[in-house]
Amino acid sequence: MSIENSLEVKNKISTIWDKCGNSYDNDYAHGLKSEKEKQEWLKLLDSMIPVKPSEILDVGAGTGFLSLLLSELGHQCKGIDLSEGMLSRAKLKAQENGFKDIIFEIGDAENLDEPDNRYDVVINRHLVWTLPHPKKAISEWVRVLKPGGHLIIIDGDWFHDSFSNKTKIFIGTCIVSVKEGKNAFKNVGNYDDELISKLPMMHDENARQLVDMAKKSGLDIEVRDAKAVEKAEKEIMSLGYRLKNPYKRTIIIGTKI
Ligand SMILES: C[S@@+](CC[C@H](N)C(=O)[O-])C[C@H]1O[C@@H](n2cnc3c(N)ncnc32)[C@H](O)[C@@H]1O
Repeated sequence: MSIENSLEVKNKISTIWDKCGNSYDNDYAHGLKSEKEKQEWLKLLDSMIPVKPSEILDVGAGTGFLSLLLSELGHQCKGIDLSEGMLSRAKLKAQENGFKDIIFEIGDAENLDEPDNRYDVVINRHLVWTLPHPKKAISEWVRVLKPGGHLIIIDGDWFHDSFSNKTKIFIGTCIVSVKEGKNAFKNVGNYDDELISKLPMMHDENARQLVDMAKKSGLDIEVRDAKAVEKAEKEIMSLGYRLKNPYKRTIIIGTKI
């Protein structure tokens, strides 16, 4: 089936993520794997959002990674996502952890059903790479921010590996495949070539361009890394997984002027 328009692309993306809801958190760099990793995420988020409680929109919330941590820090969160399968898991986790106030709703990060100037913070993690129109999405996120509010994008350059990273990933994936008796070679979220062709961040645009995109949306930009979180993530990985996950995240914090 060819995917000509945006709605079909979104349907295809949500169908793929619907199947990931129950397993997503099992992967390294997706779900939390240690108390230390959790504490580093809490520290990082707290340093970026010191005012409590803030009203926060978590776009592409998935299984609720950010919304749950931000609620633990005392913020009021709403998480939206295209995928009911991912959100079902988020709702279950919120219930199990006693976070009754988090709202999880189906919604499109590129077309928000939200009024202008509504939120103190709009945040997302690992979302931008899977958007067909990242520039439009950023302008939507800025639209719903209050003046002085912050846009926080946590992402990585997942698809433009250097020679050294490609080598590490290859060796790491071989080790994991042998040790676990399975083919661990990366399959980009089961996205096929046609879908990949519709997603600019997966080929011609990258994390550096993301900084420029955010600047052009009229935000004051600060760029940070997530080294402490990544150190804690890697501490509990076996050698194969450490080599297979050489990625570094970029965090863009934009303030609406
Ligand atoms: C890699 S997961 C990240 C989930 C979560 N933010 C996290 O950090 O674990 C990407 C998520 O983006 C969602 N997504 C993709 N395109 C979207 C869109 N246009 N609007 C809202 N959510 C979207 C997917 O359904 C999926 O849950």
